Amino acid sequence: MISVPAWDEVNGALERSWTFDDMAQAARAAQQITALCDELNHHADLTLGWGHLTVRTTTHDAGNVVTDKDHALAARVDDLMDGETKGFRKHVFVCLHERPEGAQRPSCARRGSMELMMALKRSAKALGLGDVRVQKSGCLDRCEEGPSAVVYPEATWWTLPDSTEEAAALVEHLR
Ligand code: FES
Repeated sequence: MISVPAWDEVNGALERSWTFDDMAQAARAAQQITALCDELNHHADLTLGWGHLTVRTTTHDAGNVVTDKDHALAARVDDLMDGETKGFRKHVFVCLHERPEGAQRPSCARRGSMELMMALKRSAKALGLGDVRVQKSGCLDRCEEGPSAVVYPEATWWTLPDSTEEAAALVEHLR
């Protein structure tokens, strides 16, 4: 896979393209990015062809301009595609979002998601899963469910248990 060096701002949108060895690889990347857009509730335009994929993101409700939402999506797409080039088979995004005391909605960081993420990382390492990347994420909008994580490319959602031992055991499913 080859990518243009960075995102370009083109006519009020951030845009980046990648080339692949075949259409199946490009389609797989498009599928992963689509799941990411659903997760962030911010939907980019994807142009898919034989061996190439272009992602274009703008904020329609701000008048088709580039906003923080687009930069956040671009950063997450980069993480995902970076993992592709490094050969990661799976990505686990763990929400570390923290809301202030007394906020209307609960937040994962206040329910121990950092410790749980570290337990997942240690477990993946202990199991020799070098092709599984466990990393932090912003709010996944499942705040009421408990500490949340999502596994790509299959977009499986996890509500992490309270105990780090039980959370670590989840990684067994990623073999
Ligand atoms: S704060 Fe973690 S899902 Fe919203």
